[in-house]
Amino acid sequence: MKHTVEVMISEADVAARIAKLGEEITARYQGSDEVVMIGLLRGSCVFLADLCRQTQLPITLDFMTASSYGSGMHSTRDVRILKDLDDDIKGKDIVLVEDIIDTGYTLNKVREILSLREPKSLAICTLLDKPSRREVHVPVDWIGFSIPDEFVVGCGIDYAQKYRNLPFIGKVVPQE
Ligand code: PRP
Ligand code: MN
Ligand code: MG
Repeated sequence: MKHTVEVMISEADVAARIAKLGEEITARYQGSDEVVMIGLLRGSCVFLADLCRQTQLPITLDFMTASSYGSGMHSTRDVRILKDLDDDIKGKDIVLVEDIIDTGYTLNKVREILSLREPKSLAICTLLDKPSRREVHVPVDWIGFSIPDEFVVGCGIDYAQKYRNLPFIGKVVPQE
């Protein structure tokens, strides 16, 4: 598809918001001896890298890859773990980090799986949220920006695997 990308949220606005989220997360986990930030690959890696550097906490990192099969238009979406965490999370404070929540299926499933492992706490932080697209409820602790149902890229979010490295949130605009 021929398209252009327009700035929707500027690099400066993204950075300022992430700094604020970092402060809030730091305040929440005062006294914790380890906060594990778990990134869902691949989208979350750029946001996670920025976010963890805006906290003043003893952070450790781990990653998971979840993949959804079937049509994203149907509520029967099956989410599978393609790459599991490297370490055990039992008894630990966990912040699950996502780039964007759309239908909610990915996070809902991952949250369910991680809960069974009995972490001490399990919170969710997402850079972007598209509430109008939600099909299953997910309890989200921190949201960077709530956005309308636009096709967005940048800060980790791709269009056919491209644009993840854009330092701003862009909107994909189709060209004739
Ligand atoms: C995107 C995004 C979220 C998920 C959100 O990932 O990064 O992980 O979809 O959609 P949902 O709320 O409807 O489940 P994608 O599957 O495109 O993989 P990627 O992170 O590798 O781009
Ligand atoms: Mn993803
Ligand atoms: Mg993607």
